[in-house]
Amino acid sequence: MAVERVRILTKNYGTPESWTLAAYLKSGGYQSLRRALEMEPAKILEEVKAANLRGRGGAGFPMGMKWSFLKPNPGKPNYIAVNADEGEPGTFKDRTLMELDPHRCVEGFLIAALALNVHTVFCYIRGELVLSIRRMQQAVREAREAGYLGSRVLGKDFPLDVVIHAGAGAYICGEETALLNSLEGARGEPRLKPPFPAVVGAFGAPTIVNNLESLAAVPTILELGGENFSKLGRLHHLKDGGVRLYGVSGHVNKPGVYEGPVGLTLRELIEDLGGGVRGGRKVKCVVPGGSSTPVLREEDLVHAPDPKSVLHAWHGKSHFDVPMGVDTFRALGTMLGTCCAIVMDDQTSMVRAAENLMMFYAHESCGQCTPCREGCAWMARLCRKFARGEATERDLDTLTDVANNIMGNTICALGDGAAMPMLGILKLFRNEFEEAVRTKKPAPELR
Ligand SMILES: Cc1cc2nc3c(=O)[nH]c(=O)nc-3n(C[C@H](O)[C@H](O)[C@H](O)COP(=O)(O)O)c2cc1C
Repeated sequence: MAVERVRILTKNYGTPESWTLAAYLKSGGYQSLRRALEMEPAKILEEVKAANLRGRGGAGFPMGMKWSFLKPNPGKPNYIAVNADEGEPGTFKDRTLMELDPHRCVEGFLIAALALNVHTVFCYIRGELVLSIRRMQQAVREAREAGYLGSRVLGKDFPLDVVIHAGAGAYICGEETALLNSLEGARGEPRLKPPFPAVVGAFGAPTIVNNLESLAAVPTILELGGENFSKLGRLHHLKDGGVRLYGVSGHVNKPGVYEGPVGLTLRELIEDLGGGVRGGRKVKCVVPGGSSTPVLREEDLVHAPDPKSVLHAWHGKSHFDVPMGVDTFRALGTMLGTCCAIVMDDQTSMVRAAENLMMFYAHESCGQCTPCREGCAWMARLCRKFARGEATERDLDTLTDVANNIMGNTICALGDGAAMPMLGILKLFRNEFEEAVRTKKPAPELR
């Protein structure tokens, strides 16, 4: 049965000039802001908590709980930093919101600011996303002219500004503390935590960092009520609620960004939304959530005989039939990440795929931590040896060792994000690396 199409976050996609204030108002835009202005901040927070929205930037932290960490800072500012850096391979969802519905984003920022008593919101956008930057700048300008932000929000004595900040195209600046350093004009290097940004964030002030899609859902949370939003998803019972954007790319017929309830399965994403695999071929594996997550295969079955396991309901089923949720995918040994899947068909050389991925991480490591700086480059060089048919058996052990020595030994998660997919590929496709050693032949190129 085909998945029902949901148009909530994407309801304005495809309407004429959907990025303008006029179009947004016509679709009922800024009504939730008006609602928020009538509400106590604590009530807005309550609704956001009830929405069970798990952060859409990758780590899946509950948004309401994160907001509740921000304490009043008398006489000093608190900030919100919106993470729209979106630099991970395979992840391209936030840009659609910024390009096609920037006022929804701005409305979400404003409601969050009212709830958190924040007067400045920084929106950090990846530098290459030129159209996104322009559309967001235009939306902020229009919102200011219409009185939604500025010295008063719709007449209320609440000064509020949104600053659009363009990054310079570094994946590391999506890591929340590197983002804050970059925003301050310093090198985009992650900070040691604690203190977490909610305690010491931008310019030394407490700061909530949220992914752009997380905040773009806020107008709908107020419109429907938190619990009703949560129930739109299939994993409400696991406190993983609502609707979200799914990305699907790679060897599918219809790559793109689709909206759906939280908890679609990979099978639904690939077959119903992605239009099936190109040329009717079989799927070899899927990187489920942006490039930093370990791969899954259709032929692997869930082993969860314990009724207390989060996966028990899917015991014996294919990994492709497990709902995509933060906790369900963690229990499978992978991560949901950004929920943007890269599909590889049965002709894909996993040696080449690993080389491609590791080259990205070697290029993007900020170089601050030795295990990541040296390890990512080392993994890339070793993968290249396998891809060229020049690797020895010892290289396979070294590759595994290097990946294991990155895990958990760095300030931020970029290193883990490189090591995890590497170890995942080695676990499931070791035979392809062994074959490269045996045959000494270059691996087939990626197509
Ligand atoms: C290397 C690296 C890159 C990241 N890139 C992004 C990004 O582009 N966008 C994003 O929202 N989160 C990114 N994150 C996650 C953020 O650190 C943070 O968890 C997120 O912005 C929090 O927002 P959320 O709770 O709404 O998901 C990245 C993390 C790492 C380690």
